[in-house]
Amino acid sequence: MTSVDIPADLPLFNEAKDKVIILTGGSTGIGAETVRRLHGLGAFVNFLDVDRTNGEALSKELGDNVRFYPGSVTVWADQLHVFEDVVARHGHVDIVFANAGIDDVVEDLLEDAVDEAGKLKEPTLVVLDVTLRGVLLTSKLAISFFRRQNSPGSLVITGSAASYLDTAGIPVYNAAKHGVLGLVRSLRDQLAAEPAEIRVNLVAPAFVQTKFTAHVLHLWQRDNLPINQPSDIANALLFLALNKDYHGRSIYAAAGKFTEIETSIEQTRATWLGQQNEDWIQQRKANGIRLGRQ
Ligand SMILES: NC(=O)c1ccc[n+]([C@@H]2O[C@H](COP(=O)([O-])OP(=O)(O)OC[C@H]3O[C@@H](n4cnc5c(N)ncnc54)[C@H](O)[C@@H]3O)[C@@H](O)[C@H]2O)c1
Repeated sequence: MTSVDIPADLPLFNEAKDKVIILTGGSTGIGAETVRRLHGLGAFVNFLDVDRTNGEALSKELGDNVRFYPGSVTVWADQLHVFEDVVARHGHVDIVFANAGIDDVVEDLLEDAVDEAGKLKEPTLVVLDVTLRGVLLTSKLAISFFRRQNSPGSLVITGSAASYLDTAGIPVYNAAKHGVLGLVRSLRDQLAAEPAEIRVNLVAPAFVQTKFTAHVLHLWQRDNLPINQPSDIANALLFLALNKDYHGRSIYAAAGKFTEIETSIEQTRATWLGQQNEDWIQQRKANGIRLGRQ
């Protein structure tokens, strides 16, 4: 476990100047805060969101270098349009933040709803669609566009404490956030072996005070549990986007304090998985053996 100090005025953040950014879920909360920060640092920020009212207001307030694209991460054509348009205007994209995610609908996985014929209804899994499938689509586009350009690309995904911990009551969200962590883990060796310079990292926030958590904020305050502000998470997102030493890593954030946890999880694997299992994993990696078609 490594504590990481990420003050808001980190000199590294000045490297955001003139960077071309695509971000999903930028109309409110963590995404909107990140849009503001990047704009203040002189970046060209382009964001996609279903919330047209707040998205249009934010881009109007910040001016020319911030462009809002109304649309959904669940719709391939909406996401493709953003990437194509940004590259047509700027020639390339430097940083992609896959940030959109929801848990503001009641999950239906464990609901026993029935249809007109009295048969158990299929769950909609809308949370999975936005929070995992949407991120997969953003990641595919980011990697595909990064590979075609002659400059490095950085993809940062907003995971969650729920990427690591059990969160009873929101099983679909929990599964989706574990899913985006799995994506980062799967991509790290593969991208590192490619000639294109592509980094992928995750931010794993515990509770953040946004509209997402407004309905339970009083419980966190009552029990004095750690609360992040959106600006804390924007700091972590910027840090991973810009720091070239980080690839395949994850920063856990609680009460505005940051801890890189993927390294220690890997380093302690022999302890929790057993030495024999760890040896087999190392042997497979050393021999370059991968699952999937080679
Ligand atoms: N708030 C927390 O405690 C917390 C903790 C851990 C992780 N997160 C994650 O942070 C991210 C941002 O959440 P937030 O707390 O800022 O909440 P938020 O609701 O303020 O922001 C989410 C944004 O995503 C947008 N969005 C929703 N569905 C979309 C879709 N289909 N296509 C495009 N945009 C869509 C929303 O309109 C909103 O602007 C999410 O991925 C969330 O899971 C939040």
